[in-house]
Amino acid sequence: MKKVYLETFGCQMNVSDSERVATALSSRGFEMTGREDQADIVLINTCSVREKAEQKLYTRVGEIRKGRIHKPIVGVLGCVAQLEGETLFRKIEGIDAIVGTRAVGRISEVIGRVLDGEDEVTDLGERERDYDWSVTDEQRHSPHVAFVPIIEGCNKFCTYCIVPFSRGREISLSASAIIRNVLELKRSGVREVHLIGQNVNSYRPESDSGLEAFSGKTPFSRLLRAVAATGIERIKFNTSFPRDFHADIVDAIEENENLCNWVHLPVQSGSDRILRMMKRGHSVDKYLKKIDRIATSERDIAVTTDIIVGFPGETEDDFQGTVDLVNTVKYDAAYIFKYSARPGTPAYEMDDDVTPETKTRRFLELQEHQRGIQKARLRRYVGQVLKVLVEKPAARFDHQVSGHSTCHKVVNFEGPANLIGQIVDVRVTEVKSNSLFGQHMSPGLPLS
Ligand code: SAH
Ligand code: SF4
Ligand code: F3S
Repeated sequence: MKKVYLETFGCQMNVSDSERVATALSSRGFEMTGREDQADIVLINTCSVREKAEQKLYTRVGEIRKGRIHKPIVGVLGCVAQLEGETLFRKIEGIDAIVGTRAVGRISEVIGRVLDGEDEVTDLGERERDYDWSVTDEQRHSPHVAFVPIIEGCNKFCTYCIVPFSRGREISLSASAIIRNVLELKRSGVREVHLIGQNVNSYRPESDSGLEAFSGKTPFSRLLRAVAATGIERIKFNTSFPRDFHADIVDAIEENENLCNWVHLPVQSGSDRILRMMKRGHSVDKYLKKIDRIATSERDIAVTTDIIVGFPGETEDDFQGTVDLVNTVKYDAAYIFKYSARPGTPAYEMDDDVTPETKTRRFLELQEHQRGIQKARLRRYVGQVLKVLVEKPAARFDHQVSGHSTCHKVVNFEGPANLIGQIVDVRVTEVKSNSLFGQHMSPGLPLS
């Protein structure tokens, strides 16, 4: 039996693709292993969103082959594979197969061809019409949390972003298939699903099938109501594209307890001039109106974001606009990135004129602002009782377990491992830099 080691970089869509690759391979007689040194086949599922992410592929292939007498078969999957195609065979020594983002359903065939002696096998083809989106319990990244793709690809073409090129055009999965998937997950004991896509609220299936009984101003808010009706305990979704984020999504959350208290709404910049150059399709003002609907909700909804500093032409004034916006919104968390020019994107043609030093300075300054805000945001939970899905033992402490709240905060607390997989009440007692610490409220104890 050939052993396969699969390593994944990038976003949740890549994690999700890897789960299906592992599902397909194990059903075809391969054995998935966590030991790279024992693998006959090493697969790397790659990300291309920033130069550093892409660089990882180059270093990893070298590391994997180094010191091994019997060199493993190496296959490159994902966004770098899709973008670079066969040129990767010339750029990196030791690659045997290249599999594009929509070709992962044929992974077993590709590896089969390599095992049969074929050199340099490439598949950058389209997804099969009957592509199986399901994942077996064994291959899911967590027994308790499942990623459920609802839309793949992206049509937005933000000027800095490679994703529309690596992932192709937006294709929505049928609502009836999504709901079937969620019901199966629920039956097999999954407590939380994450509906995933580059832009979930651009969801637009070919037919109404599965949504007939659900109202809403957009297909996405109807889908949220339909998934909520499955009765699965928790539903989270990301990423939301600000232009397509409508108040109706917040209405759906307010109507359904199992739609969680968390929205990820990447703003990218607090300068209208830069937002126009990024072609994001929203202004600061319009964005703030959407934030206002979330902030004034009867539910305490956490908001997180992505921000790019040092986009071409970004002045101190533009950057100050971003600092001001961060101060105004008071995000629960912000993922801040230094602009990285990606060949093939429109912004790559612009003058990348913000020096690396300035990018670093702005990055650190914004991070510092956000750190203070985050701390204050976390502090508001102290004394509150949060419902925590216990997912695993805490990384660094014995006798502690770790999970997420519905507001998507990491919560650690003292407790036995047999709580893993349960949703329990935890009273928050302490704030750490990126997480909360609390005390398990044993059943029967009064909540206040
Ligand atoms: N679909 C999502 C996220 C896409 S990639 C969205 O529309 O927001 C995740 C994040 O990476 C982006 O939100 C952006 O902040 C960042 N990113 C994308 N391209 C980048 C680039 N060229 N340089 C730096 N950061 C980038
Ligand atoms: Fe990239 Fe913009 Fe699409 Fe997000 S919406 S994946 S940032 S092009
Ligand atoms: Fe990276 Fe591709 Fe996701 S570029 S962020 S793995 S869609």
